[in-house]
Order: sequence, then C-alpha cells, then structure tokens
Amino acid sequence: MSNTRQPQHPVDASFPGRWSPRAFTGQALCREQLSALFEAARWAPSAMNVQPWRFCYALQGTPLFERFVDLLAEGNQVWAKHAGALVALLSTTSYVGSDGSEKPFASHAFDAGAAWMSLALQARSMGLVTHAMGGFDNVRARDYLRVPDNLAINAFIAIGYQGDAAQLPEALQAREKASDRHPQEQWTFEGPLG
Ligand SMILES: Cc1cc2nc3c(=O)[nH]c(=O)nc-3n(C[C@H](O)[C@H](O)[C@H](O)COP(=O)(O)O)c2cc1C
Repeated sequence: MSNTRQPQHPVDASFPGRWSPRAFTGQALCREQLSALFEAARWAPSAMNVQPWRFCYALQGTPLFERFVDLLAEGNQVWAKHAGALVALLSTTSYVGSDGSEKPFASHAFDAGAAWMSLALQARSMGLVTHAMGGFDNVRARDYLRVPDNLAINAFIAIGYQGDAAQLPEALQAREKASDRHPQEQWTFEGPLG
C-alpha cells in the first residue's frame, strides 16, 4: 500500500514518509541494523542529558522473540509476530541530583519519545518500517523484563521489512494505509490557546 500523504507545507520527505504499517515480511533484522537504530536514538536530546531511555530487544527467530510477542495485546500479536525485531522502550522515572538524592525525572517519557522518533526515522532511512504499540500487558512485561520501580515501559516497537497487506487478517487490510493529520490551524496558537 502506498503512502499518499500530502504535507500542508514543504518538509523533509522523511516526516510524512514515516508511517506505521502492520504487514511485515517476517525477515529477521541483524544486530548491526539494530545497533544503527539504537545509535540514532542515542543522539536524542534529553533534560540535563540524563538519557533516560532503555531498550530491551528480541530478534525474530529467537526464543526471546516468542516471549516478547506473548507480552503484547492479542490484537497486536496477530501482526507483530512477523516483525524482524521487537523492542521495548523504557525510561527511568527518577535521576540522581547533584546532591546525591534521587529525584523524580519529569521529562522521562518526553525524552524517550524523542529517542523513539529518532529510531523510527533512522529505520525509514534504512528501508525498514516501525510500529509503536501501547497495547501490551504492563504487569507481565515488567515482570519478564525485570523492570525496577523507577523505570516505566513506554511502548513496544515492531521493526522490520514491510510485507504485503494481503497477508493480514481482512479487518486489518483496510487499515493498512498511511493516516492523515489534523490541519495545523487546529493545534497551533499565536500566543495563548484559542
Ligand atoms: C505510544 C503509541 C502507542 C501505540 N499503540 C498502538 C497499538 O497498541 N496498536 C497499534 O496497532 N498501533 C499503535 N500505535 C500506532 C498509532 O496508532 C499510529 O502511530 C497512529 O495512528 C499514527 O499513524 P502513523 O504512525 O502511521 O503515522 C501506537 C503509537 C504510539 C506512538
């Protein structure tokens, strides 16, 4: 399925060009590819340069991958099981201040979001597609990934080679196209909110 998105204003093609398909070929990613994706994430900005992101990953074809799939919501498992890799994006909800005490880290999810977008755009530049998922079992995922109290799981991310939409269950085939966005006028304000 093609991406026919039309930007309202001229922007780099990577922005409207990135979208979240569900059809993956099932081809595994290699470690070098994953390292390149994490390298892009590594250069994301973060408050005080805390770099709160943490990534747990599993490559297609490994026993780990099956375990990761099992942590997803059933509606996501159906298609995400064909991804080339699954990644959980976590972030540290606290940091150690200059006085040595642990403090809440307010921007952890914001910063992790920047890392996710960097990864997604890097993936696109490598001919890969990405699909973030909030649909996962947080309790079981925390347990399996051994997540301590001061980390949050923000999302799982399916990464891989885009597959043929015809392989998807019928209900998902109709949704296998790039979505549009609200016009800027609806969410930009010169000064206070309208
Ligand atoms: C944090 C987050 C959670 C999401 N959770 C899911 C999910 O559980 N299942 C799913 O199919 N898509 C999920 N999506 C994908 C969004 O629906 C998708 O990004 C959005 O519709 C915009 O489409 P685009 O990414 O193709 O531009 C999620 C995206 C984000 C950023």
